[in-house]
Amino acid sequence: ARITLRQLLDHAAEHDYALPAFNINNMEQGLAIMEAAEAVNSPVIIQASRGARSYANDIMLARMIDALAEIYPNIPVCMHQDHGNGPATCATAIQYGFTSVMMDGSLMEDAKTPATYEYNVEVTRKVVEMAHACGVSVEGELGVLGSLESGMGEAEDGHGFEGVLSHDELLTDPDQAVEFVERTGVDALAIAMGTSHGAYKFTRKPDGDVLAMNVIEEIHQRLPNTHLVMHGSSSVPQELQDIINQYGGAIPQTWGVPVEEIQRGIKHGVRKVNVDTDNRLAITGAIRKILTEKPHEFDPRAYLKPAKEAMRQVCQDRFVQFGSAGHA
Ligand code: G3H
Ligand code: 13P
Ligand code: NA
Ligand code: ZN
Repeated sequence: ARITLRQLLDHAAEHDYALPAFNINNMEQGLAIMEAAEAVNSPVIIQASRGARSYANDIMLARMIDALAEIYPNIPVCMHQDHGNGPATCATAIQYGFTSVMMDGSLMEDAKTPATYEYNVEVTRKVVEMAHACGVSVEGELGVLGSLESGMGEAEDGHGFEGVLSHDELLTDPDQAVEFVERTGVDALAIAMGTSHGAYKFTRKPDGDVLAMNVIEEIHQRLPNTHLVMHGSSSVPQELQDIINQYGGAIPQTWGVPVEEIQRGIKHGVRKVNVDTDNRLAITGAIRKILTEKPHEFDPRAYLKPAKEAMRQVCQDRFVQFGSAGHA
């Protein structure tokens, strides 16, 4: 059954857990998420980026979500636009049946140039007005996602902004967050608290203080009814890096956000945790392994089935670790 982000996250807040939000681009990823959800009885947030929509085609993606919801009638499914870059992207997502949209007004419509605060407020407010009229939830974003370690902000193409930002400039300002939510009416707010997108988050093993927990806590205290969202929340597990490298890959040693850190965030109001990279690593590792071990194999199912299984395992782990298991 379809459900909005607001409904899902209100329930999560009431019961002190968070929902992982997994990105999809194809059928195997959709099936992996639903198989995992069914196995542990978790509600689901499936999200599609603009890249996913153009890769899979909007019609294909929309019908796929319909199919997944029909195959798993007991699992509540929220279909979310990840990193919408403007009102048009959000509007067409709604036309295709998405029950939630992210208006990422922290960047301009090119999804590269940092936006002014006033632009962010205006564009997000406009999307909230439109989406809420359609019964659709809205996630906004305030602050520059980037690594505290490198001091670099990050554009959505994964390349750092020019110039080095100070520690404070990389974190969402709580006063501004309060005003932003008041002026826009967003249901959920993505905040910058020390994570970045992709596999290369930290160059050393994090010592336990990778997230700006004080910022999360303060924003949660002052905005108890706004659900906080953590982007860039892949844990980049060592064993997934190792499988890729063992079978011909070349992933330089890297570290992600430890699951225990995410669990601390969940204690302070984080309700949606975006995970894409971990699933990409799991899929790629499984495919590399099969193609290496069975060089004679050319039936795509021979490697796509293990790839789906590897992603299912990651999703199932996150449902349990973030506490959404048992809440479908
Ligand atoms: O934040 C971005 C997500 O990982 C989706 O990535 O834009 O390459 O589809 P994508
Ligand atoms: P990761 O790259 O850490 O998986 O983050 C994904 C994300 O934030 C999608 O919006
Ligand atoms: Na999102
Ligand atoms: Zn993101």
